[in-house]
Amino acid sequence: MTEAGPTPSAAGEAGTTAYDIDWEGLRTRAIEMMRRAYAPYSSFPVGVAGLVDDGRVVAGCNVENAAYGVALCAECGMVSELHATGGGRLVAVSCVGRDGEPLMPCGRCRQLLWENGGPTCLLLARGGILSMADLLPRAFDRDDLDS
Ligand code: THU
Repeated sequence: MTEAGPTPSAAGEAGTTAYDIDWEGLRTRAIEMMRRAYAPYSSFPVGVAGLVDDGRVVAGCNVENAAYGVALCAECGMVSELHATGGGRLVAVSCVGRDGEPLMPCGRCRQLLWENGGPTCLLLARGGILSMADLLPRAFDRDDLDS
């Protein structure tokens, strides 16, 4: 587990450190997004906010569908906003469930975060800060396509 203690310890791809990240601001934005979720089938609203390596914050909420299997996770919306507003790399992410507390991203969304943030992207979890390397060890990614 990557510690986010009082000393900078985890470097993002743009040199951002856990110490620099406004985690409470990111979580507040994630909670705002969670309140906009469309989750009439699960009654489980999710919100997520991510800090981009140029300082932007992108966010999303889950959007469900009567055809249950095509529900969009909150992370899908966030990644869509990332690309729609200029791209870049995610360096820190806060995802919350309906209680506003940190939520662990589902398996598919870990893959989305890996693609757009890589192993050093950080996630606010209940016990502290985790890196994507913690969340998705031995991940499949574009390097595997070359092999
Ligand atoms: N959900 C997300 O939005 N992100 C996750 O990482 C976990 C699950 C949503 C999907 C569905 O709308 C609801 O939570 C219950 O699974």
